Amino acid sequence: MSNSAQIGVTGLAVMGRNLARNFARNGYTVALHNRTAARTHALVADFGHEGDFVATETAKEFVEALERPRRLMIMVKAGEPTDAVIQEFAPLLEPGDMIIDGGNAHFEDTRRRERDLRGQGIHFVGTGVSGGEEGALNGPSIMPGGSKESYASLGPMLEKISAKAPDGSPCVTHCGPDGAGHFVKMVHNGIEYADMQLIGEAYQLLRDVAGYSPAQIADIFRTWNTGRLDSYLIEITAEVLSHVDAATGKPFVDVVQDRAEQKGTGRWTVQIALDLGVPVSGIAEAVFARSLSGHADLRAASRELVGPRAKPLGESEAAAFADRVEQALYASKIVSYTQGFHEISAGSDQYDWDIDLGAVSAIWRGGCIIRAAFLDRIRAAYDARPDLPSLLSDETFAQEIAAAQDDWREVLVAATRQGVPAPGFSAALAYYDALRADRLPAALTQGQRDFFGAHTYRRVDREGSFHTLWGGDRSEVEA
Ligand code: 6PG
Repeated sequence: MSNSAQIGVTGLAVMGRNLARNFARNGYTVALHNRTAARTHALVADFGHEGDFVATETAKEFVEALERPRRLMIMVKAGEPTDAVIQEFAPLLEPGDMIIDGGNAHFEDTRRRERDLRGQGIHFVGTGVSGGEEGALNGPSIMPGGSKESYASLGPMLEKISAKAPDGSPCVTHCGPDGAGHFVKMVHNGIEYADMQLIGEAYQLLRDVAGYSPAQIADIFRTWNTGRLDSYLIEITAEVLSHVDAATGKPFVDVVQDRAEQKGTGRWTVQIALDLGVPVSGIAEAVFARSLSGHADLRAASRELVGPRAKPLGESEAAAFADRVEQALYASKIVSYTQGFHEISAGSDQYDWDIDLGAVSAIWRGGCIIRAAFLDRIRAAYDARPDLPSLLSDETFAQEIAAAQDDWREVLVAATRQGVPAPGFSAALAYYDALRADRLPAALTQGQRDFFGAHTYRRVDREGSFHTLWGGDRSEVEA
């Protein structure tokens, strides 16, 4: 082996294969390795003309094919398979070499692996990669963590293969040390879940309350995609809704079982938010909505429960209602991103990552699943004020929400009256109203906690902790 490859990719399922091709198409020599060598040879046979590949069969051959310091990218399933591959390759590496994990790993696993390999002088670079198979091939959004040193060596290559934002800048940034990249990717996916849920609710309301057909709703989404909601998910929603099932001639969306699946990254976003004490209620509702949809037996047993069935509006009212739904969708989307960025900021504080929220929003403008025109404005908000307490504190977003809120409330009134579930819209509005409330019932919660458990409370008019002697004369004592 000639030590000529600038990067090696092991794990050549669709994501690994496409990333390897992307590196090669961008002029890098790419060493290839896979557990079953047939896949490696198939890649070279099918795509060898796209660039310089070095096919290898053993771990030793693979490592020897790489120039130093070695850049070795692993694209295998998260969890045990990743640990197995690390254990296979780490003994063959030297100080200064890099292992890049481009899978959807849990950031705590990434922290552990980074710590373990650091002792050996190896840089472990947990890297979020978003954009699906198409993005991996033509330009994903890339969220690397790991050491600054590793980014200095790897960054230029990632910048080359990444998607480019509309202003031409590469959709990659060094998110921060150890698990920062995988944390950012996790929250990206949580926001992805929320975006998809909100779009789903908009679709259901347009169908059941406005009375539009899937094809008509596809047209509405196409129109929305020319405005402030311009995004990949809105664009593909129109595609999915206008697709007709060849076998039955019915709208495709009517022949697919309404049970959503999940691999787990949205769930992690919520679990970690609970640990960090960050209210990501919109993302949580999106995860729960997927879970609820999957309880087929429970849903079947509950179908006879009493409640209204939606009666579609007349044609003249339907168009006005669709405009209101656009407002509700946009306002709820701002809230989901607000919650997601809050979680990134809390994670950054907790783990000392110093994540630049403006840079994160900038690299989500191209390549990834949540790419959207409005991320440009989120970036502008954080660039103008890096310490922005919340996206809702940005004047432009606050004004937009203020302008949307009457319609947002009306849409929820209609949804409630007609029995159409809209947990994402509703959670987003509740979050907004809770944040702006003068007083919350948390004061009562504190009173109850003090009553049954002597958990104490703080007063509005004096410093200190207090307890009321509920079982006695109800006098107050300082705790
Ligand atoms: C991406 C996607 C990608 C994948 C997730 C979500 O950014 O390219 O988020 O990572 O689609 O695995 O899948 P689930 O919906 O199955 O959780």
